Amino acid sequence: MLLSSGFLANLAVVPALVGGGDHVYSDELNHASIVDGCRLSGAEIGRYPHADADVLHALLSRSSDSGKRLVVTDGVFSMDGDLAPLDRIADVTRAAKAMLVVDDAHGEGVVGSHGRGIVDHFGVRDAVTAEVGTLEGVRSRRRLCLRLRVCDRRAPPTRPALPLLDWSVASRYGGGASRGRGVGGVR
Ligand SMILES: Cc1ncc(COP(=O)(O)O)c(C=O)c1O
Repeated sequence: MLLSSGFLANLAVVPALVGGGDHVYSDELNHASIVDGCRLSGAEIGRYPHADADVLHALLSRSSDSGKRLVVTDGVFSMDGDLAPLDRIADVTRAAKAMLVVDDAHGEGVVGSHGRGIVDHFGVRDAVTAEVGTLEGVRSRRRLCLRLRVCDRRAPPTRPALPLLDWSVASRYGGGASRGRGVGGVR
């Protein structure tokens, strides 16, 4: 499915898979669009320490059987540039019979055979429910070369979802219910 931006893709994919009464587990350094997608979904949010598959495993083991469960992670992290340990994350997600979404905005075209991305790099396609990419990410990589030469600085990313997150609107989508509680660190 093609959307007008990677940001919108994450706003769409998380609420499409989980909602009120479900659980979503998100790496603490995930991109802002994933954070907003989780909030919009109305699912209970468990934030796990960065790239920590052991804590993720513990959170998944502790969560109740009710509702669907979704793990969501960046493939290559946008701020630190490190890779998610997707082999371990896929193992614990499979074991818990949870869904897994990977946002590979910075991995596609770069890692994996012929640039097929992090899912290909770790050979875990069978464990992945949905993969998000962004054409802007590919364009940014081209811009990076230019930036190195002219020392341009990009403005901080905008958050198109923020107006949507006005509390009254969020609560209509069940977002209010998930705030302030949940499994592990909660947003
Ligand atoms: C990991 C990640 N996901 C999603 C996005 C949003 O992509 P777009 O710029 O196409 O909205 C970005 C943007 O940098 C990103 O780094």
